[in-house]
Amino acid sequence: MSKTITFHDHHPQIQSLKSAVIAGLSKPNKSIPPKYFYDERGSKLFAEICEQPEYYPPNIERALLSKITEEIFHLTGTNRLIIEPGAGSATKIRILLDPLKPSAYLPMDISCEYLRSSAAEIADDFPWLPVHAVCVDFTHSIPLPDTAPKGHRMAFFPGSSIGNFTPHEARSFLEMVRQTLSPGGLLLIGVDTKKPADILNAAYNDAAGITAAFNLNLLHRIRDEVKADCNPENFEHLAFYNQTLGRIEMHLISRCRQTLHLSDYQFQLEEGESIHTENSYKYTPDEFIDLATQAGLQPVQHWLDDQKLFALYLLQA
Ligand code: AVJ
Repeated sequence: MSKTITFHDHHPQIQSLKSAVIAGLSKPNKSIPPKYFYDERGSKLFAEICEQPEYYPPNIERALLSKITEEIFHLTGTNRLIIEPGAGSATKIRILLDPLKPSAYLPMDISCEYLRSSAAEIADDFPWLPVHAVCVDFTHSIPLPDTAPKGHRMAFFPGSSIGNFTPHEARSFLEMVRQTLSPGGLLLIGVDTKKPADILNAAYNDAAGITAAFNLNLLHRIRDEVKADCNPENFEHLAFYNQTLGRIEMHLISRCRQTLHLSDYQFQLEEGESIHTENSYKYTPDEFIDLATQAGLQPVQHWLDDQKLFALYLLQA
């Protein structure tokens, strides 16, 4: 392993899967936040989703990043401290590391073991690069280790992860990023665009069933980690584009009337009842620039692919 890697464990959300499940199943419209998808198996399934032909964002974003690297370089220069909240498998940043020569790379993720291995791979492949991996729930805080270099910062938030937040939450998150960046800091963010429903529906209903397995993995966690008597086979995956709200919705639909027992709690589900597990909001460039501006981030430049399937925005704090 490279000597340039350090690991900071902020013990994200210990014991909270259970409390999130209890809180979420107690609501009249049952829901569980999407961050609970990402245990190690969930992170692996998400990486597999990214290889499905219907799930267009990763390939389009990667091609776009490669195409505009030179332009990004001219706008950011080198030697920035690059922070990546929710880095996951940390593959897209690889496109930028050699051209932008950051002073350090700080990947952050809620899935500690997964982060440890992806950060180690980066450190191995880029031996000149100090890597400070931070295991944290970045939706609450973006802690920078004291040992990280000072100087100009840049946050990298690809993959349209911002889409998991409601527009209101997205604005608060962007404000938190702005505060972390300090004035003059930059955010390079990838955001999925609004587009015809058939393209979006296919992207979240891949033929190989990987997105379904990813959604249903939440029930495996509830069974194995929370020790609820829940059988994933009693649920099915549902994903559709809600045109009115401009978002993909993912649900787990109960195939039958059933009762889940969890410690002292009992939760009844009717046949056809939903547990809402994810929203993935889509933004037109005008909508996203407006949101960013409201959060105090100034648009510097933005880029779309030829088919306008995906957008990258460079914003300044
Ligand atoms: C990681 C939130 C960007 O919303 O497209 C992919 C997650 N869910 N397929 C998305 C996801 C189902 C993904 N984000």
